[in-house]
Amino acid sequence: MRAFDLVAFDLYGTLLDVAGLANGMRPITGEQSPALLGRWRQAQLERSWRLNREDAYEPWDLVTLRALEEIAPELPAESRERLADLWLTVPAFADARETLQALKSAGVRRAVLSNGTRPMIARALETAGLDVETILSADDVRAYKTDPRAYALLDTEADPARTLFVSSNGWDADGARRTGRTVVWIDRGGAPPTAPPSYRVASLTEITPIVMDAGTAI
Ligand code: LAC
Repeated sequence: MRAFDLVAFDLYGTLLDVAGLANGMRPITGEQSPALLGRWRQAQLERSWRLNREDAYEPWDLVTLRALEEIAPELPAESRERLADLWLTVPAFADARETLQALKSAGVRRAVLSNGTRPMIARALETAGLDVETILSADDVRAYKTDPRAYALLDTEADPARTLFVSSNGWDADGARRTGRTVVWIDRGGAPPTAPPSYRVASLTEITPIVMDAGTAI
């Protein structure tokens, strides 16, 4: 028996490998690219949490660009814009395509729930060769994860009890858990959630057995 009707994935860091951006950055920022990228990602997230606290909002492409301005003001504006555009071409993790395909074959609906704007998400998925039935963008509620309004977008698609949310971002798994959702944390090497997720996996390929009610909850 199937335990879930909808599986919703976080995008950056979960389906797409943010670390892979460093290759595209190298022609512009050279050998410092991986370190710069690490600081950029952190600044991007911290900016979104700050805006959430201030009840303010900017589309995710602007959050991304301004976060880079914060940490690398010495770069020419034109270079910063080229770097920000790379977020449209983040490579997929090796397990993403086969997992999305396996879920589709099992008749399970697939969604992305991301802070990215709808055009950013659609373009990034297309470039990475991934497809889902539904895109849920925090832009629609003008509040970023971990604001409960962002996770509530899931409820427009399926019964919360029949929805599985998957993220590699520990803070994101925590945010979804706090709203009472069933959450898979995938260990991609990042900081783990502070509260136990419903499931913990090492590869997205472990999702299908969970959905088909063969997985073991923590
Ligand atoms: C996302 C980023 C925050 O929402 O991981 O896709």
